[in-house]
Amino acid sequence: MRLKKLGFLFLKLKFMSIQTIKWTNNSARIIDQTKLPGKLEYITCRDVERMWWAIRRLEVRGAPAIGVAAAFGVLLGIKNFAGKDKKKFRKHFNKTCDYLATARPTAVNLFNMLDEMRAVVREHPEAEVIILKRLLFHRAMMIFEEDRRVCRTMGCCGAKLIRNGMRLLTVCNAGALATVDYGTAEGVMYAAKEAGKKFSVYACETRPLLQGARLTAWELMREKIDVTVICDNMAATLMKQGKVDIVFTGADRIASNGDTANKIGTYMLAVLAKHHNIPFYPVAPRSSFDLKIKSGKQIPIEERKPEEVTHFAGVPITPKGTKVFNPAFDVTPNELISGIVTEYGIIRRPLGENIRKMFKSYGEQLLIKSAERKA
Ligand code: MRU
Repeated sequence: MRLKKLGFLFLKLKFMSIQTIKWTNNSARIIDQTKLPGKLEYITCRDVERMWWAIRRLEVRGAPAIGVAAAFGVLLGIKNFAGKDKKKFRKHFNKTCDYLATARPTAVNLFNMLDEMRAVVREHPEAEVIILKRLLFHRAMMIFEEDRRVCRTMGCCGAKLIRNGMRLLTVCNAGALATVDYGTAEGVMYAAKEAGKKFSVYACETRPLLQGARLTAWELMREKIDVTVICDNMAATLMKQGKVDIVFTGADRIASNGDTANKIGTYMLAVLAKHHNIPFYPVAPRSSFDLKIKSGKQIPIEERKPEEVTHFAGVPITPKGTKVFNPAFDVTPNELISGIVTEYGIIRRPLGENIRKMFKSYGEQLLIKSAERKA
């Protein structure tokens, strides 16, 4: 019994070994994901500008990790504010939040977490600067801890969908590297592994920046999960050969009707999955939902620089002057989605109706939370 417990603890420790982002010594420490899998290097962000660039350059990436990075970015932005002038502090704070909001446009976690930080200042109109700084620090740490907790909860919910012998397919990286330390889609895999299930994973390489080949393969291999990398254009063949049983992806923004933005290529996989009768599940916390928008049509899609397509590892691979289309995300319409795995359980179809129901009960929890904060 004791040995079993120790073994469990060991597994837990093992999963915590990838710490994507952390607050330490009044700075934010992040893994430089542009260097993986070759080198595991860290960047220390000591000011808000460095954090903005880290988000923009994808040194820290993945919707939930970007949300935490934004909260830490706020702390970096206000840490050197000197003086006691409340009005000046509020102005400086708002400017910092507005600035961080320009780092990347699609992952709603960035905006949702900035809203959480803004709520702290809004809810304490009379507070002194020193108190606001402390409250903001506390809120950022809660955002960090909440990510760790919800990823593990989602993992357990989603692991129920995995049966022994299944072959999973995923795209991009929705793992520990896309969150604080566990992952959404990959979190489901980690939880299934912890539950003793045997399965294997196909990881789409995810052109142009290869998050699947570089990051997902690295992470899953570290965790001793059987992973095979495929080029993005091989998914149809695999499915036709009957080698894929279920698809798990992350999500950058989910609209009220369930339309889901995720890494470019996800929509293509959803169409293929529907055609081959394969279940398709995004895995995402409530911080990835945007209930202010009705459908995926309203999701802003980031377009990134042409060099990501025209060059490979710094070497040109297209004729000079080639025209490029480089959207970083696409939107999967809700009708192609079997269900969405969240920390509250699996949202089943009809997605729009069931998302509303879930958020109604979440709204009640939110009130309790903010009442607790005030007390
Ligand atoms: O451009 P990236 O690497 O930030 O894109 C990441 C994704 O598309 C992930 O799938 C998504 O953020 C979900 S991460 C849990």
